[in-house]
Amino acid sequence: MKQEVMEIIQQNQLAPRIFELTLKGELVQEMKRPGQFIHIRVPKADLLLRRPISLNKIDPSTNTCRIIYRVEGDGTKSFSTLTAGDTLDVMGPLGNGFDLTGLKAGDFAFIIGGGIGIPPLYELSHQLKAKGVKVKHFLGFASADVMYDEEKFRQLGETKIATDDGSAGVKGNVGNLLLAEENKKPDAVFACGANGMLKAVEHFFHTHPNVQLSLESRMACGIGACYACVCHKAEDETKSVKVCDEGPIFKAGEVIL
Ligand SMILES: Cc1cc2nc3c(=O)[nH]c(=O)nc-3n(C[C@H](O)[C@H](O)[C@H](O)COP(=O)(O)OP(=O)(O)OC[C@H]3O[C@@H](n4cnc5c(N)ncnc54)[C@H](O)[C@@H]3O)c2cc1C
Ligand code: FES
Repeated sequence: MKQEVMEIIQQNQLAPRIFELTLKGELVQEMKRPGQFIHIRVPKADLLLRRPISLNKIDPSTNTCRIIYRVEGDGTKSFSTLTAGDTLDVMGPLGNGFDLTGLKAGDFAFIIGGGIGIPPLYELSHQLKAKGVKVKHFLGFASADVMYDEEKFRQLGETKIATDDGSAGVKGNVGNLLLAEENKKPDAVFACGANGMLKAVEHFFHTHPNVQLSLESRMACGIGACYACVCHKAEDETKSVKVCDEGPIFKAGEVIL
């Protein structure tokens, strides 16, 4: 993990409250695994805690990386006011990231995402495709107007969409999409989204040996020192794990969601 003041190359709004930000710096050379995140200092003196945001795309050839974030509160709101040429103080890359080592060319993976859990799955899908792994995406959004990046995912593999209100794709959540796939046997399953969605994925693939879930939790230090981000182990509830450095990716069944 390193720290750098990175330069903003561009910022675009993708949907209401959803922004895409490209950052440039040497730190990109450290970024390897999909599912890792960066811890960003808010450019506002009264907000002391950094904000964790996942890597959406890593491009070492241009020293750039991209994040996609949704404006939730003051921290992300202040990110959204930045423009090309501004800078952000970034720590990272942090966390363990998705483990792709067990997969080989010709394998088949399911990639499942909901809402603002979708961004890290794009770099994941890229790296799987580069390995020759065939991917199928299942993406859930609240409605068509908050959908983003659907086309980018389609370019990497088959992509199924669900929306809560039925305004695009299948009406319902990604669970409804998975029901139609019951007889398919992916070699690995990767998911990122709200806890309810992760629980549904865990339940759906409960006998599968390679299901990796990306968890969210409120964070403070981001480097394993403060215990702000703990969750409990499934095998023994008295034991805890830190989402920031032992996660954010865990195997299904490893922690209590
Ligand atoms: C490992 C990790 C990766 C993440 N990746 C992304 C990403 O790629 N894109 C993205 O938009 N967001 C991501 N998040 C969530 C993001 O960190 C929070 O939305 C952000 O910190 C909110 O900061 P804020 O100052 O805008 O809002 P705050 O004022 O801090 O909070 C506003 C609202 O957001 C909720 N919130 C704040 N932090 C979190 C959190 N960590 N998890 C869930 N809810 C939270 C609060 O409960 C509150 O309701 C990630 C979180 C983690 C832990
Ligand atoms: S945020 Fe401090 S230990 Fe995880």
